Amino acid sequence: MQPARNFTVVVLISGRGSNCQSLIRQAEDYSIIGVLSNNVDAPGLKYAREAGIEAIAFDRKTAGSLVQQKQQIYSHIEAVAPSLIVLAGYMQILESDFVERFEGKIVNIHPSLLPRFKGLDTHKRALQAFHQAGVSAEAKHGCTVHYVDWGVDSGPIIAQARCRIMPSDGEETLAARVLDLEHRLFPWVVNAIAANDIAYRDRQAIFSPKVIAEAKDNGFLLPERSPVMQPG
Ligand code: GRF
Repeated sequence: MQPARNFTVVVLISGRGSNCQSLIRQAEDYSIIGVLSNNVDAPGLKYAREAGIEAIAFDRKTAGSLVQQKQQIYSHIEAVAPSLIVLAGYMQILESDFVERFEGKIVNIHPSLLPRFKGLDTHKRALQAFHQAGVSAEAKHGCTVHYVDWGVDSGPIIAQARCRIMPSDGEETLAARVLDLEHRLFPWVVNAIAANDIAYRDRQAIFSPKVIAEAKDNGFLLPERSPVMQPG
């Protein structure tokens, strides 16, 4: 069981749920009050339940339609009113009015260095670019945590973690390297948001001096020229 904390998080998943696991294991300043899935067979639900967290699958067939399934998920989130909604491998586009209602309170992790490679098959596309452009130009890949806006993988960037692409890499080895980074970066960002060391202002992320120093120590990248929180 996790200790109760004031900053509450709902995690949305669609599949494996390895990021959800790392968010559960590394929760310091937040409580995960629910794990929700649009896929009844999502393996990630089991781990959450074993950790004592309410994990609910919303079945599209039982709901009657995709629209109704989404409505049930949104109604549940509105009822529990979390401090933050965390998309961790959630493969369903959120409606724009829902995104608008929770502006600045939804974060997503994406397996590329945005704005490069939005959408699917990011590792494959990164490898193609690497082989086309030559080793030095495209040698970096990684992951991005960002606020969710009305587009796909397009909201304000919060932080990124980078790794090298090796000439010997295939999709699997590269994906594994990026996933390791995701498991470090995502909980770090969510803890920092919960501790108010990262905040959303005027459609961008702002950072406390503490979190800027921590990012440097961890090798994480924050957006260039991002505003710094003033003390007090
Ligand atoms: C991760 O690579 C994440 O970046 C992407 O979907 C994948 C989910 O993996 N959005 P998991 O379900 O967390 O293991």
